[in-house]
Amino acid sequence: MNKELAPIGVFDSGYGGLTVMKEIVQAMPLYDYIYLGDNARAPYGTRSFDTVYRYTLDCVKWFFKQGCPLVVLACNTASAKALRSIQQNDLSGIAPDNRVLGVIRPTTELIGRLSTTRKVGILATKGTVSSNSYPIEIEKFFPELEVYQEACPMWVPLVENNEYAGEGADYFVKKHVEALLGKAAAIDTVLLACTHYPLLADKIRRFLPPGVQLISQGKIVADSLVDYLKRHPEMDSRLSKTGTRRFYTTDDALDFEQHASRFYGASITAEKIDL
Ligand code: DGL
Repeated sequence: MNKELAPIGVFDSGYGGLTVMKEIVQAMPLYDYIYLGDNARAPYGTRSFDTVYRYTLDCVKWFFKQGCPLVVLACNTASAKALRSIQQNDLSGIAPDNRVLGVIRPTTELIGRLSTTRKVGILATKGTVSSNSYPIEIEKFFPELEVYQEACPMWVPLVENNEYAGEGADYFVKKHVEALLGKAAAIDTVLLACTHYPLLADKIRRFLPPGVQLISQGKIVADSLVDYLKRHPEMDSRLSKTGTRRFYTTDDALDFEQHASRFYGASITAEKIDL
């Protein structure tokens, strides 16, 4: 790898960001990537604003130490609770030329184009829902859109514990899908606003009426990153492009390797780091 050039950093509290990284790598295979899952401190979705902010900032600083000039927070909870503070308060002091991007903005820029009834549903962690980030951001692009949210606190543990395909998961999937649709019958677009949820997509679809579309974020975020780098050649010129991917976790590496392929679609080798 060229010394002056460096990989793109992709971050999540655990495994979920791998569903986004998979799409980014597919869209931009030549670039180099470093993935970090903060598995030792996951889940983030039930933690306070301040805790998610502190944890995310630790990880962003770690990416900067590895030389990454661009970090994607492939985690809705971190994007909702930490991104703005990092961009507005921290970046100028720690690395003013570096950039940190999230997953909420690219999704909210697009979602209004997908709904005919002008009613969309958001399925997310408790933290993302209580931050109100989706309704606030969507309002900026599509003020007429009605946004309904449902927090699904059991879904990340079901996915992380590899229980998402079993019958036990049906109860919690049905419960939250019905609760969301109960808020407005005309919802025609439902967004998986947590990067863990694509693994539950088949099950969720079984409880959605025909005609309601289910949207995953991975491809939306990947397309938006391609566009960002076209608009920011000064950032693109700092990124290395030798096709390498490295994976790190704050918890056990073997454990990470065993679970990661379910999210990433390919087996990987991981290394444990201490923050
Ligand atoms: N994958 C994260 C997200 O997109 C949430 C996982 C967690 O609760 O840590 O919100």
